[in-house]
Amino acid sequence: MRCLVTGAAGFVGSHLCSELLEHNGKVWGVDDLSKGRQERIAELMENPDFIFVNNSIGESAALSAIVKEVEVIYHLAAVVGVKQYVEDPARVVEANVCQTAHLLKLAWQYGKKVLFTSTSEVYGKNKELPFVENADRLYGPSDKDRWSYAIAKSAAEHLCLGYSRKGLPVVIVRYFNAYGPRADSSSYGGVVTRFISQALRDEPLTVHGDGCQTRCFTYIDDIVDGTVKAGHVPEAEGRIINLGSKRETKIKDLAEMISEIAGGKKIVYQPYREFYGPYYEDIPRRVPDLSVAEQVLDYYPQVPLETGLKKTLEWYKSEQDFI
Ligand SMILES: NC(=O)c1ccc[n+]([C@@H]2O[C@H](COP(=O)([O-])OP(=O)(O)OC[C@H]3O[C@@H](n4cnc5c(N)ncnc54)[C@H](O)[C@@H]3O)[C@@H](O)[C@H]2O)c1
Repeated sequence: MRCLVTGAAGFVGSHLCSELLEHNGKVWGVDDLSKGRQERIAELMENPDFIFVNNSIGESAALSAIVKEVEVIYHLAAVVGVKQYVEDPARVVEANVCQTAHLLKLAWQYGKKVLFTSTSEVYGKNKELPFVENADRLYGPSDKDRWSYAIAKSAAEHLCLGYSRKGLPVVIVRYFNAYGPRADSSSYGGVVTRFISQALRDEPLTVHGDGCQTRCFTYIDDIVDGTVKAGHVPEAEGRIINLGSKRETKIKDLAEMISEIAGGKKIVYQPYREFYGPYYEDIPRRVPDLSVAEQVLDYYPQVPLETGLKKTLEWYKSEQDFI
Protein backbone atom coordinates (compact mmCIF):
# COMPACT_ATOMS: atom_id res chain seq x y z
CA MET A 1 0.00 0.00 0.00
CA ARG A 2 1.35 3.47 -0.88
CA CYS A 3 0.52 5.96 1.86
CA LEU A 4 0.99 9.60 2.72
CA VAL A 5 1.36 10.44 6.41
CA THR A 6 1.06 14.14 7.22
CA GLY A 7 2.69 15.13 10.51
CA ALA A 8 5.19 12.29 9.98
CA ALA A 9 7.84 13.74 12.29
CA GLY A 10 5.33 14.13 15.11
CA PHE A 11 4.79 11.73 17.98
CA VAL A 12 2.01 9.55 16.53
CA GLY A 13 3.06 10.13 12.90
CA SER A 14 6.57 8.75 13.43
CA HIS A 15 5.21 5.53 14.99
CA LEU A 16 2.55 5.20 12.30
CA CYS A 17 5.16 5.51 9.52
CA SER A 18 7.23 2.71 11.14
CA GLU A 19 4.21 0.44 11.35
CA LEU A 20 3.11 1.09 7.76
CA LEU A 21 6.64 0.33 6.54
CA GLU A 22 6.56 -2.93 8.56
CA HIS A 23 3.54 -3.92 6.47
CA ASN A 24 5.71 -3.53 3.34
CA GLY A 25 4.19 -0.23 2.41
CA LYS A 26 5.77 2.71 0.66
CA VAL A 27 5.36 5.83 2.78
CA TRP A 28 5.65 9.51 1.97
CA GLY A 29 6.01 11.46 5.21
CA VAL A 30 5.32 15.20 5.14
CA ASP A 31 6.08 17.51 8.05
CA ASP A 32 7.01 21.20 8.23
CA LEU A 33 8.95 20.50 11.45
CA SER A 34 7.03 23.26 13.24
CA LYS A 35 6.75 20.84 16.13
CA GLY A 36 8.05 17.68 14.50
CA ARG A 37 11.57 16.45 15.15
CA GLN A 38 13.71 14.71 12.58
CA GLU A 39 15.30 12.54 15.31
CA ARG A 40 11.94 10.77 15.60
CA ILE A 41 12.25 9.48 12.04
CA ALA A 42 16.06 9.19 11.81
CA GLU A 43 15.93 5.37 11.50
CA LEU A 44 13.19 5.51 8.89
CA MET A 45 15.33 7.76 6.70
CA GLU A 46 17.56 4.71 6.03
CA ASN A 47 14.59 2.85 4.54
CA PRO A 48 14.31 3.26 0.74
CA ASP A 49 10.53 2.88 1.02
CA PHE A 50 10.27 6.01 3.16
CA ILE A 51 10.39 9.41 1.52
CA PHE A 52 10.44 12.40 3.84
CA VAL A 53 9.32 15.79 2.57
CA ASN A 54 10.08 18.77 4.79
CA ASN A 55 7.19 20.96 3.77
CA SER A 56 3.92 22.38 4.94
CA ILE A 57 0.79 20.61 3.77
CA GLY A 58 -0.29 24.07 2.69
CA GLU A 59 2.28 23.92 -0.15
CA SER A 60 0.07 22.80 -3.03
CA ALA A 61 2.60 21.75 -5.64
CA ALA A 62 4.62 19.42 -3.41
CA LEU A 63 1.55 17.94 -1.78
CA SER A 64 -0.37 17.44 -4.96
CA ALA A 65 2.49 15.44 -6.53
CA ILE A 66 2.47 13.08 -3.53
CA VAL A 67 -1.32 12.77 -3.32
CA LYS A 68 -1.32 11.60 -6.95
CA GLU A 69 1.07 8.75 -6.04
CA VAL A 70 -0.61 7.30 -2.95
CA GLU A 71 -3.67 5.17 -2.20
CA VAL A 72 -4.35 6.30 1.38
CA ILE A 73 -3.70 9.60 3.16
CA TYR A 74 -3.27 9.49 6.95
CA HIS A 75 -3.83 13.10 7.97
CA LEU A 76 -2.16 13.77 11.32
CA ALA A 77 -0.53 17.17 10.78
CA ALA A 78 -2.07 19.57 13.27
CA VAL A 79 -1.33 22.17 15.89
CA VAL A 80 -1.67 20.10 19.07
CA GLY A 81 -1.14 20.62 22.81
CA VAL A 82 -3.28 22.34 25.43
CA LYS A 83 -0.78 25.14 25.95
CA GLN A 84 -0.95 25.97 22.22
CA TYR A 85 -4.73 26.38 22.40
CA VAL A 86 -4.46 29.14 24.95
CA GLU A 87 -1.32 30.78 23.52
CA ASP A 88 -2.23 30.92 19.83
CA PRO A 89 -5.84 29.96 19.19
CA ALA A 90 -5.82 31.62 15.74
CA ARG A 91 -3.04 29.30 14.60
CA VAL A 92 -4.86 26.31 16.06
CA VAL A 93 -7.99 27.07 14.02
CA GLU A 94 -6.15 28.06 10.82
CA ALA A 95 -3.92 24.98 10.84
CA ASN A 96 -6.51 22.45 11.87
CA VAL A 97 -9.37 23.68 9.69
CA CYS A 98 -7.81 25.41 6.67
CA GLN A 99 -5.01 22.88 6.10
CA THR A 100 -7.47 20.00 6.39
CA ALA A 101 -9.77 21.70 3.87
CA HIS A 102 -6.82 22.07 1.51
CA LEU A 103 -5.83 18.42 1.86
CA LEU A 104 -9.39 17.19 1.36
CA LYS A 105 -9.70 19.22 -1.85
CA LEU A 106 -6.63 17.49 -3.24
CA ALA A 107 -7.83 14.07 -2.09
CA TRP A 108 -11.18 14.76 -3.80
CA GLN A 109 -9.45 15.91 -6.98
CA TYR A 110 -7.47 12.66 -7.22
CA GLY A 111 -10.06 10.38 -5.57
CA LYS A 112 -7.83 9.27 -2.65
CA LYS A 113 -8.96 7.79 0.65
CA VAL A 114 -8.37 9.96 3.75
CA LEU A 115 -8.06 8.93 7.39
CA PHE A 116 -8.45 11.99 9.62
CA THR A 117 -7.15 11.96 13.18
CA SER A 118 -9.56 13.73 15.48
CA THR A 119 -9.69 13.81 19.24
CA SER A 120 -11.69 13.01 22.36
CA GLU A 121 -11.66 16.80 22.92
CA VAL A 122 -14.54 17.12 20.43
CA TYR A 123 -16.95 15.75 23.06
CA GLY A 124 -16.15 18.80 25.16
CA LYS A 125 -17.97 19.04 28.49
CA ASN A 126 -20.59 16.41 27.72
CA LYS A 127 -21.14 14.61 31.02
CA GLU A 128 -22.72 11.46 29.57
CA LEU A 129 -20.06 8.80 29.81
CA PRO A 130 -18.77 6.77 28.08
CA PHE A 131 -18.61 8.95 24.96
CA VAL A 132 -20.32 7.33 21.98
CA GLU A 133 -19.36 8.66 18.57
CA ASN A 134 -22.73 10.28 17.86
CA ALA A 135 -23.00 11.94 21.29
CA ASP A 136 -23.73 15.67 21.52
CA ARG A 137 -20.78 18.03 21.75
CA LEU A 138 -20.79 20.65 24.48
CA TYR A 139 -18.38 23.57 24.49
CA GLY A 140 -17.68 26.61 26.60
CA PRO A 141 -17.71 30.24 25.39
CA SER A 142 -15.52 31.53 22.54
CA ASP A 143 -13.46 33.69 24.90
CA LYS A 144 -12.17 30.53 26.57
CA ASP A 145 -9.38 29.87 24.08
CA ARG A 146 -9.04 26.26 25.13
CA TRP A 147 -12.08 25.42 23.00
CA SER A 148 -10.28 26.49 19.82
CA TYR A 149 -8.84 23.01 19.32
CA ALA A 150 -12.06 21.09 19.97
CA ILE A 151 -14.02 23.42 17.69
CA ALA A 152 -11.37 23.30 14.95
CA LYS A 153 -11.19 19.49 15.01
CA SER A 154 -14.97 19.38 15.06
CA ALA A 155 -15.17 21.66 12.01
CA ALA A 156 -12.56 19.51 10.26
CA GLU A 157 -14.72 16.44 10.99
CA HIS A 158 -17.65 18.19 9.27
CA LEU A 159 -15.42 18.84 6.26
CA CYS A 160 -14.42 15.17 6.18
CA LEU A 161 -18.01 13.97 6.47
CA GLY A 162 -19.06 16.47 3.79
CA TYR A 163 -16.60 14.91 1.35
CA SER A 164 -17.66 11.46 2.48
CA ARG A 165 -21.29 12.31 1.59
CA LYS A 166 -20.05 13.30 -1.88
CA GLY A 167 -18.44 9.87 -2.28
CA LEU A 168 -14.85 10.25 -1.06
CA PRO A 169 -13.72 7.35 1.14
CA VAL A 170 -13.05 9.01 4.51
CA VAL A 171 -12.51 7.60 8.02
CA ILE A 172 -12.35 9.68 11.20
CA VAL A 173 -10.64 8.31 14.30
CA ARG A 174 -10.85 10.07 17.66
CA TYR A 175 -7.83 9.42 19.85
CA PHE A 176 -8.02 9.36 23.64
CA ASN A 177 -4.75 10.53 25.26
CA ALA A 178 -1.96 8.73 23.47
CA TYR A 179 1.34 8.38 25.32
CA GLY A 180 4.61 6.55 24.81
CA PRO A 181 8.17 6.99 23.56
CA ARG A 182 8.90 10.07 21.40
CA ALA A 183 5.97 12.12 22.72
CA ASP A 184 6.63 15.79 23.40
CA SER A 185 7.84 16.04 27.00
CA SER A 186 7.87 19.84 27.16
CA SER A 187 5.21 21.91 28.87
CA TYR A 188 3.37 21.79 25.50
CA GLY A 189 3.16 17.99 25.60
CA GLY A 190 0.80 15.54 27.27
CA VAL A 191 0.66 14.95 30.99
CA VAL A 192 2.33 11.51 30.98
CA THR A 193 5.54 12.65 29.35
CA ARG A 194 5.51 15.91 31.28
CA PHE A 195 5.44 13.94 34.56
CA ILE A 196 8.10 11.51 33.30
CA SER A 197 10.47 14.25 32.26
CA GLN A 198 9.94 16.06 35.58
CA ALA A 199 10.70 12.81 37.43
CA LEU A 200 13.85 12.21 35.38
CA ARG A 201 15.03 15.78 35.98
CA ASP A 202 14.42 15.17 39.69
CA GLU A 203 11.79 17.91 39.81
CA PRO A 204 8.43 17.64 41.58
CA LEU A 205 5.59 16.32 39.41
CA THR A 206 3.18 19.21 38.89
CA VAL A 207 -0.52 18.33 38.96
CA HIS A 208 -2.81 21.06 37.61
CA GLY A 209 -5.98 21.65 39.60
CA ASP A 210 -6.97 19.13 42.28
CA GLY A 211 -5.92 16.13 40.17
CA CYS A 212 -9.39 14.55 40.26
CA GLN A 213 -9.87 15.14 36.52
CA THR A 214 -9.63 11.83 34.64
CA ARG A 215 -8.31 10.61 31.30
CA CYS A 216 -8.05 7.23 29.58
CA PHE A 217 -4.39 6.90 28.65
CA THR A 218 -3.63 4.82 25.60
CA TYR A 219 -0.24 3.39 24.77
CA ILE A 220 1.07 4.40 21.35
CA ASP A 221 1.15 0.81 20.00
CA ASP A 222 -2.59 0.51 20.60
CA ILE A 223 -3.26 3.87 18.95
CA VAL A 224 -1.21 2.88 15.89
CA ASP A 225 -2.81 -0.56 15.70
CA GLY A 226 -6.30 0.99 15.58
CA THR A 227 -5.23 3.62 13.08
CA VAL A 228 -3.72 1.13 10.63
CA LYS A 229 -6.82 -1.07 10.88
CA ALA A 230 -9.09 1.94 10.33
CA GLY A 231 -7.11 2.83 7.20
CA HIS A 232 -7.50 -0.70 5.79
CA VAL A 233 -10.92 -2.03 6.76
CA PRO A 234 -13.53 -1.04 4.13
CA GLU A 235 -16.36 -1.06 6.73
CA ALA A 236 -14.65 1.84 8.52
CA GLU A 237 -15.24 4.20 5.60
CA GLY A 238 -17.70 6.99 6.30
CA ARG A 239 -17.51 6.37 10.06
CA ILE A 240 -16.21 8.11 13.18
CA ILE A 241 -14.39 5.68 15.50
CA ASN A 242 -13.11 6.21 19.04
CA LEU A 243 -9.63 4.79 19.64
CA GLY A 244 -8.43 4.61 23.20
CA SER A 245 -8.44 2.61 26.37
CA LYS A 246 -11.44 2.22 28.69
CA ARG A 247 -9.40 2.55 31.87
CA GLU A 248 -10.17 5.86 33.56
CA THR A 249 -7.35 7.30 35.66
CA LYS A 250 -7.30 10.40 37.87
CA ILE A 251 -4.36 12.69 37.12
CA LYS A 252 -3.29 12.61 40.77
CA ASP A 253 -3.21 8.77 40.58
CA LEU A 254 -1.18 8.94 37.39
CA ALA A 255 1.30 11.18 39.22
CA GLU A 256 1.51 8.62 42.05
CA MET A 257 2.14 5.79 39.60
CA ILE A 258 4.90 7.64 37.77
CA SER A 259 6.44 8.81 41.03
CA GLU A 260 6.53 5.21 42.24
CA ILE A 261 8.14 3.70 39.12
CA ALA A 262 10.64 6.57 39.04
CA GLY A 263 11.73 5.76 42.59
CA GLY A 264 9.58 8.16 44.63
CA LYS A 265 9.23 11.80 43.62
CA LYS A 266 7.48 14.75 45.21
CA ILE A 267 4.06 15.72 43.81
CA VAL A 268 2.90 19.34 43.93
CA TYR A 269 -0.39 20.98 42.95
CA GLN A 270 -0.66 24.13 40.82
CA PRO A 271 -3.85 26.08 40.03
CA TYR A 272 -4.83 25.94 36.34
CA ARG A 273 -4.79 29.72 36.14
CA GLU A 274 -1.13 29.91 37.10
CA PHE A 275 -0.10 27.61 34.28
CA TYR A 276 -2.61 28.28 31.50
CA GLY A 277 -3.75 31.81 32.29
CA PRO A 278 -7.38 32.95 32.49
CA TYR A 279 -8.63 31.48 29.18
CA TYR A 280 -8.69 27.86 30.23
CA GLU A 281 -11.17 25.42 31.68
CA ASP A 282 -10.61 21.70 32.06
CA ILE A 283 -12.75 18.79 30.98
CA PRO A 284 -13.41 16.78 34.16
CA ARG A 285 -13.78 13.27 32.72
CA ARG A 286 -13.26 11.51 29.41
CA VAL A 287 -13.99 7.86 28.71
CA PRO A 288 -14.52 6.28 25.28
CA ASP A 289 -17.19 3.83 24.26
CA LEU A 290 -15.24 1.37 22.11
CA SER A 291 -18.15 -0.67 20.70
CA VAL A 292 -17.66 0.64 17.16
CA ALA A 293 -13.90 0.05 17.26
CA GLU A 294 -14.48 -3.47 18.59
CA GLN A 295 -17.11 -4.36 16.00
CA VAL A 296 -15.65 -2.69 12.94
CA LEU A 297 -11.91 -2.97 13.58
CA ASP A 298 -11.65 -5.85 16.07
CA TYR A 299 -9.79 -3.28 18.18
CA TYR A 300 -8.94 -4.22 21.77
CA PRO A 301 -6.13 -2.22 23.39
CA GLN A 302 -3.47 -4.55 24.71
CA VAL A 303 -1.03 -2.54 26.80
CA PRO A 304 -1.92 -2.01 30.49
CA LEU A 305 -1.12 1.43 31.88
CA GLU A 306 1.55 0.10 34.29
CA THR A 307 3.40 -1.63 31.44
CA GLY A 308 3.14 1.33 29.10
CA LEU A 309 4.38 3.77 31.74
CA LYS A 310 7.39 1.58 32.54
CA LYS A 311 8.27 1.21 28.85
CA THR A 312 7.92 4.96 28.33
CA LEU A 313 10.03 5.83 31.36
CA GLU A 314 12.77 3.41 30.27
CA TRP A 315 12.79 4.90 26.79
CA TYR A 316 13.17 8.48 28.08
CA LYS A 317 15.98 7.35 30.40
CA SER A 318 17.92 6.16 27.35
CA GLU A 319 17.00 9.15 25.15
CA GLN A 320 17.99 12.12 27.27
CA ASP A 321 17.68 14.52 24.28
CA PHE A 322 13.92 14.07 24.38
CA ILE A 323 13.61 15.23 28.00
N1 LIG B 1 -1.27 12.62 21.00
C1 LIG B 1 -2.53 12.54 21.41
O1 LIG B 1 -2.82 12.14 22.54
C2 LIG B 1 -3.66 12.90 20.49
C3 LIG B 1 -4.96 12.87 21.00
C4 LIG B 1 -6.01 13.22 20.17
C5 LIG B 1 -5.78 13.53 18.83
N2 LIG B 1 -4.50 13.57 18.36
C6 LIG B 1 -4.30 13.93 16.95
O2 LIG B 1 -3.34 13.06 16.38
C7 LIG B 1 -2.53 13.77 15.45
C8 LIG B 1 -1.07 13.58 15.81
O3 LIG B 1 -0.83 14.10 17.11
P1 LIG B 1 0.60 14.08 17.78
O4 LIG B 1 0.42 13.90 19.22
O5 LIG B 1 1.50 13.18 17.03
O6 LIG B 1 1.04 15.61 17.57
P2 LIG B 1 2.47 16.20 17.14
O7 LIG B 1 2.41 17.66 17.42
O8 LIG B 1 3.55 15.39 17.73
O9 LIG B 1 2.45 15.96 15.57
C9 LIG B 1 1.85 16.85 14.65
C10 LIG B 1 2.87 17.12 13.56
O10 LIG B 1 2.28 17.93 12.56
C11 LIG B 1 3.28 18.79 12.06
N3 LIG B 1 2.61 19.90 11.38
C12 LIG B 1 1.83 20.87 11.94
N4 LIG B 1 1.36 21.70 10.98
C13 LIG B 1 1.85 21.24 9.79
C14 LIG B 1 1.72 21.65 8.44
N5 LIG B 1 0.98 22.72 8.10
N6 LIG B 1 2.36 20.95 7.48
C15 LIG B 1 3.10 19.86 7.79
N7 LIG B 1 3.26 19.41 9.06
C16 LIG B 1 2.64 20.10 10.05
C17 LIG B 1 4.09 19.19 13.27
O11 LIG B 1 5.40 19.63 12.94
C18 LIG B 1 4.11 17.87 14.06
O12 LIG B 1 5.26 17.11 13.76
C19 LIG B 1 -2.99 15.22 15.49
O13 LIG B 1 -3.88 15.45 14.42
C20 LIG B 1 -3.72 15.33 16.82
O14 LIG B 1 -4.72 16.31 16.79
C21 LIG B 1 -3.43 13.27 19.16
